[in-house]
Amino acid sequence: MNARAPKGTADMLPGVARAWEHMTRVAQDLFARYGYEPIYTPLFEHTEVFTRGIGEATDIVAKEMYTFEDKAGRSLTLRPEGTASVVRATLEHTLVPQGSSAKLYYAGPMFRYERPQKGRMRQFWQIGVEALGSAEASVDAEVITLLVRYFEALGVPGERMTLLVNSMGDEACRPAYRDTVAAFIRGHAADLCDECKRRADTNPLRAFDCKNPGCAATMADAPVLRDELCDECAAHYAAVKVHLDALGIAYIEEPKLVRGLDYYTRTVFEIQAEGLGSQNAIGGGGRYDRLMQEYGGPATPGLGFALGFERTLLALESAGVETPAPARADVYVARVDDSVSEAVFGLVQALRDDGIAAEMDHQARSLKSQFKQADRLGTRVVLVLGPDEFAAGEVTLRDMNTKEETRVEIATAAEAVRATLG
Ligand code: HAM
Repeated sequence: MNARAPKGTADMLPGVARAWEHMTRVAQDLFARYGYEPIYTPLFEHTEVFTRGIGEATDIVAKEMYTFEDKAGRSLTLRPEGTASVVRATLEHTLVPQGSSAKLYYAGPMFRYERPQKGRMRQFWQIGVEALGSAEASVDAEVITLLVRYFEALGVPGERMTLLVNSMGDEACRPAYRDTVAAFIRGHAADLCDECKRRADTNPLRAFDCKNPGCAATMADAPVLRDELCDECAAHYAAVKVHLDALGIAYIEEPKLVRGLDYYTRTVFEIQAEGLGSQNAIGGGGRYDRLMQEYGGPATPGLGFALGFERTLLALESAGVETPAPARADVYVARVDDSVSEAVFGLVQALRDDGIAAEMDHQARSLKSQFKQADRLGTRVVLVLGPDEFAAGEVTLRDMNTKEETRVEIATAAEAVRATLG
């Protein structure tokens, strides 16, 4: 048997898993202040949820989905992202009746069959939010600000992050712009890769995302949508920027930012971090005002973001930010000999029941080795129980900082430990 995790996946060992839990806790605290509630959707959906939502001509749908048939012949797909699922669930459960709104967040694994490299996995972890029901530019600015504040709360230094924003227009102005870009691609076919040439017919805006350096250089001269936005989209984009400016959120306008999903309308944004190499987008998102209708639901504006755990961790590491240390036991209860084993077992449990992190030996160690283990665990207090102490209903409390020892009653040991811990 092959005892290695599949290519593009990674076991989250305790050091990394602790960082993930820390990141989700910080998200829960911060997102709650902005009124977000948790939502958990299935890890797989009917394939159509993604093909319709994300778009047939995107790399995600065309190349990267884990699609399989179940035993009843249904086509199912492991979720490559969270937005499509959240919008599907919102529609299914009528979470946003007309005129109302909902703010939802999620955290969990996503799956994309990509070529693995630093910061790019086949199973990766995202934290995301979706704000449904509001078309106002203020909510765009709020969502963007939340993403910035989240990275700040984790400790990513502001000067190592760049926020890019753009407007993708809507059904009024984008079709004409798509035609303009398609014409540009056809006019520069000699300088573009085969795939970009095909994109003129399928999805011209994807050519802005091509990683081929020749294509990137050619597309740099392509017309930008910013100059061709309809009045409503231009006004919306301007209002988003006014709100960001009012909060002092620094951003760069990047008219070539199109993002890899077709559901976007109007505002899109991405945060890139230093020290990650080519996979430097730690989080991104945008508005998707037509997605709910795409699923047959009522017109419901929405927007959100998702951030990648692995890339955020790389950004924190490269900025020298320490990830949380393991939780430490406060007290170690050592046993002088076997006659007090059960009493030690009971005392450790009593301390834990009292809210104190307590540890004991489960490997028949000598007293000396138990002290060594306590040292390794870094406990501040060791309680030593021997037959003499036990007979007197007492235990010896050793403060590992001062090396002072005192006898305390077993019944009040928890209080004495707390007093020592301070
Ligand atoms: P996305 O840009 O495809 O957007 O992914 C968001 C983040 O997930 C990226 O910025 C990156 O940090 C991380 N990520 C994506 N692919 C990988 C991968 N293969 N390996 C490691 N990390 C990865 C979305 O998923 C949208 N659902 C965001 C959104 C929410 N838009 C509106 N609402």
